[in-house]
Amino acid sequence: MPIERTLAIIKPDAVAAGNTGKIISMIEENGFKILALRKQQLTRADAEGFYAVHKGKGFFAELVEFMTEAPVILMALEREDAIVKWRDVMGATNPEKAEAGTVRKLYGANIGRNASHGSDAPETAAFEISWFFRGSEL
Ligand code: CMP
Repeated sequence: MPIERTLAIIKPDAVAAGNTGKIISMIEENGFKILALRKQQLTRADAEGFYAVHKGKGFFAELVEFMTEAPVILMALEREDAIVKWRDVMGATNPEKAEAGTVRKLYGANIGRNASHGSDAPETAAFEISWFFRGSEL
């Protein structure tokens, strides 16, 4: 399996609820190296650009509203097979369908307020990491 990088976000709901440390512990316990980490209040432009692939979908406005309501934690993670592995640790997008013990099952409320984000492919990971981090930060 290749060493990969992925972009992880602890979303506003989980940060506001005080679950940042527990989620970072899950990341470290699962063997990820945290290459870069920053707490940031996203602007509309940050969120709209980051989620540009979802523009035009019914949930886009709600998604941007949610992602800008309070600070998030942005992380660039690295490990073998990082993209799939972080998605496994997060669980299904909809917390109701997520496996027990996953981030979204433990800390998500519904498909919109679902505690965390992860890149879904190598190309999107490269775009998403570069959207928030300069090369010199990694
Ligand atoms: P995320 O992995 O951050 O990528 C896009 C987000 O859109 C997704 O998590 C969900 O939180 C959010 N979203 C809101 N409503 C929906 C929906 N009906 N289907 C898919 N994603 C949704």
